[in-house]
Amino acid sequence: MSESTEKPTIYKGLVGVYADVSSISKVMPETNSLTYRGYAVQDLAENCSFEEVAYLLWEGELPNQQQLEAFKAETAAEREISPALHRVIKEFPADAHPMDTIRTAVSFMGLEDPETGDISDAAQRRKAKRLFAKIPTAIGAAYRASKGLEPLAPNPKHSFAENVFHLVQGRVPEPEVLKAFDVSMILYAEHTFNASTYTARLVTSTQADMHGAITAGIAALKGPLHGGANEAVMHMLKEIGDPAKAKDWLHGRFDHKALVMGFGHRVYKSGDSRVPTMTKYAEKMAEVVQDRTWMEISRILAAEMLEKKNIHPNLDFPAGPAYHLMGFEIPLFTPLFVASRITGWSAHVLEQGEDNRLIRPLSWYTGPEQRPVPPMASR
Ligand code: ACO
Repeated sequence: MSESTEKPTIYKGLVGVYADVSSISKVMPETNSLTYRGYAVQDLAENCSFEEVAYLLWEGELPNQQQLEAFKAETAAEREISPALHRVIKEFPADAHPMDTIRTAVSFMGLEDPETGDISDAAQRRKAKRLFAKIPTAIGAAYRASKGLEPLAPNPKHSFAENVFHLVQGRVPEPEVLKAFDVSMILYAEHTFNASTYTARLVTSTQADMHGAITAGIAALKGPLHGGANEAVMHMLKEIGDPAKAKDWLHGRFDHKALVMGFGHRVYKSGDSRVPTMTKYAEKMAEVVQDRTWMEISRILAAEMLEKKNIHPNLDFPAGPAYHLMGFEIPLFTPLFVASRITGWSAHVLEQGEDNRLIRPLSWYTGPEQRPVPPMASR
């Protein structure tokens, strides 16, 4: 195909561009709804475990009891990370961001995985499950190493949610907290062609492997316009500190035309389908901890953003305070998003692999006309 001589329409940020078909999830911004494989995400959050949803995303159907037990046993057996990775993690700088450490750990897992270079569907599925199982162990080990603590061994009897708390915090909290965390994992699991998922698909389109695609997805998720927003939300709430200061703080942002983190979305313009469910569970966490400060500031910001700017919150807005109330430190919020989104990313890697074509768009050149290379003396 030759490049056009007339400037074509440029879809900056690929706004409104359908880049491929997908049968994994569907966003319906007109009704603020989202389905995974045909099931409404809020129904999955209320009625299923994260393990069931992971299985659904990969296999296309919810598991029956027997399939679920087999899936849990298979992934629980893969939770340990290697002694070599534990040694590497101990060498990470103590002040490294946990998104950088989990990105590096996943890349390292690719060096060790016996099937790294095998991009057959069966091998890619096995690698996806291994990453799903090992990522919380690596997050926990890196977090604890940064505090001078020894890593904890994963417990194969724990659910996914119990295991994350155990590995990071060294405790398993009460059932309401585990449920709220599991809901966050389900809501974060998948969201069509968002920036990190599209990154993973683009890497896959070159016939690169699963670990490469997921490492790239993690890099894309870190940015504050995407997954990094859940951390930025909590920094913002802490900076405001007091519900009485929320409106003035927000008006100051308006004066500087500054972004307010956790608001706005490329696809949803009248409300993010996941926000009501996550807000409900964040409120429950505020009750458990008996601290309403963060949810009260959030309520004031959301009402004022809607009234003055007509901009709605996105999932990161309630997820930030929910994770804080669950006892996680702020730099762990986006790595927790990774622990969930590995399911959606890898489902897309598998789908891209089924019917692959190299992703390679065009750019419209705006640089200098062709010119001779001047000799060094005349530059
Ligand atoms: N704060 C203030 N104004 C905003 C915000 C915000 N958070 N989001 C959008 N707007 C404004 C834009 O400045 C723009 O105003 P203008 O028309 O006067 O220029 C208008 O709303 C429309 O926004 P878009 O440019 O269409 O937004 P876009 O689709 O390019 O970007 C994005 C979406 C990146 C999510 C943006 O809303 C944003 O930066 N939000 C804050 C970061 C954030 O919360 N990211 C998490 C996204 S969800 C996720 O990744 C899980």
